[in-house]
Amino acid sequence: MIENNLKTNRLVNFGPSGRAVAQPIDSDLLDNFYEHLTMERFANIQYFSIYLWFQERNLDGFASYFLSESQGEMEHASKFANYLIARGQTVKLKELPAPIQAWDSIEALISYSFNLEADLTSSLQQLYSIAERISDTRSNVFLDPIIESQTKSEDEFAHILGKVKFSANQPSAILLINSDLKRK
Ligand SMILES: [Fe+2]
Repeated sequence: MIENNLKTNRLVNFGPSGRAVAQPIDSDLLDNFYEHLTMERFANIQYFSIYLWFQERNLDGFASYFLSESQGEMEHASKFANYLIARGQTVKLKELPAPIQAWDSIEALISYSFNLEADLTSSLQQLYSIAERISDTRSNVFLDPIIESQTKSEDEFAHILGKVKFSANQPSAILLINSDLKRK
């Protein structure tokens, strides 16, 4: 008979939340995860405020686009929070800065949003490389699909920015983009 040499009495590690932890999260990586969670929550309220800005101007296509972006950011935030919980951590929520509510032009607003997406991507890349450096494969696997969809978001905003720039603020062209966004 083959002997079973699995230990039956191995100790289990518990994290700060009291949940069992298979591999503890490195503290530098954890700080970066918290930082990223804050960025996703900020994007959520920033896009919500942009949704209101468009609502006030009767541009309901742009408005609905930003409302769904805002909801998407909240989903990302909960994904990160749930991942930290799954890794035995408690989720600390930090205070958020007030969202920007005044814009000089639609182009300025879309440019700002594009940069916000680019910053989110950089933060994800930073998380990814820290996880890789310390061989936290679980985190790399978690981040893979998120980075893919983040790259798509950048592409979408670049596309909208291209159209808005081309329209040079002409009302008829802005209304066309508005109805294109409504159909999405
Ligand atoms: Fe996001």
